[in-house]
Amino acid sequence: MGRTVLSGLFGLLKKKTAQAGRPDMSRLPRHIAIILDGNGRWAKQRGLPRRSGHAVGADTFRTVATYCRDLGVQYLTVYAFSTENWKRPAQEVDAIMKLLGDFLDEAARDVDKNRVFVHVMGDLSVLSDELREKIRRTEEITSRYAGSQVNICVNYGGRHEICQAVEQFMRTYPDHDGPVSEEDLASCLYTAGMPDPDLLIRPGGEFRLSNFLIWQTAYTEFYFTDVLWPDFTERDLDAAILAYQKRDRRFGEVK
Ligand code: FPP
Repeated sequence: MGRTVLSGLFGLLKKKTAQAGRPDMSRLPRHIAIILDGNGRWAKQRGLPRRSGHAVGADTFRTVATYCRDLGVQYLTVYAFSTENWKRPAQEVDAIMKLLGDFLDEAARDVDKNRVFVHVMGDLSVLSDELREKIRRTEEITSRYAGSQVNICVNYGGRHEICQAVEQFMRTYPDHDGPVSEEDLASCLYTAGMPDPDLLIRPGGEFRLSNFLIWQTAYTEFYFTDVLWPDFTERDLDAAILAYQKRDRRFGEVK
């Protein structure tokens, strides 16, 4: 009898611990943003070229995007290539663009298996015609799964995004006179129509935004971890969501 009670208690404890490691599915972030950082260091630690870190980082992105879809996170936005990243060696830039192109081809091919809408955000005008065509085609084909959206930021810079939003606003409303509202400007950002990120994750041990979604993260909860992006797992995402779920979001109010 004593043994039965004890084993029952153990069972309960085990169940509780397992539950404690999983996010509360009723309070998931609607939009998660991630800065993909640490690929270069991951490769260096293993004596590999930086492009190998990016290749494994692209696979980690596939895993995390699928996990977000399965959890029911509606939007995942990742920072894959910044406006500053062009300063990297041409070989590395080419490798990243090739990984992006391969991902887009695969997303278009496996559309009904992946069931996510893939959208690319940034100043795409400087990308090769081939890559821009892949973006157009993949967005068109995957748009049928708009309920689960992955945004890949390429040649993206937050300040540049705000400048282009101002230009777009002035083009759209040339006769506008008077104040410009936050909603007016937000409607001209790449993220128009999307909710702001609830949670921003930066792996790789750095504590900065690096010009990522600087407008949209005004009330976002930040989560930093030393884990390098290629090592990031579904359990790391759980940990980030759990940390988010412990935060008290007041949006400037007294609650
Ligand atoms: C930052 O790590 C990472 C990048 C600049 C590139 C990220 C690109 C990919 C993962 C490949 C393509 C992406 C998709 C979405 C298919 P870093 O090189 O600055 O790392 P470090 O700080 O360790 O040097």
